Amino acid sequence: MTNKELTKEEKEERIKRLATVVCICKGIPLGKVLPAIKACDTVEDVNRMAGTGSGGCHGERCGPRIRMLLKKKHDLQDSRPATRDTASDKDE
Ligand code: FES
Repeated sequence: MTNKELTKEEKEERIKRLATVVCICKGIPLGKVLPAIKACDTVEDVNRMAGTGSGGCHGERCGPRIRMLLKKKHDLQDSRPATRDTASDKDE
């Protein structure tokens, strides 16, 4: 589903979800952490990119959430087919 297909309620829910704070110590929301999750494969790299994990608890609270988000990303990647049909494959 693309952003244009979302209902008003779905858009509001998405905005609320992205505003959810992941790193309580630094006040860093999910919307800032997600690009780092997409770009990185380790909690340390996510922390470097998003600024998480450097607050008073040193990642005790946000680390598990970041690990869970990385696991979800990896699980999604693993569940995708190894090869995908592309337009050029279909033309052959
Ligand atoms: S919650 Fe992220 S460093 Fe404490």
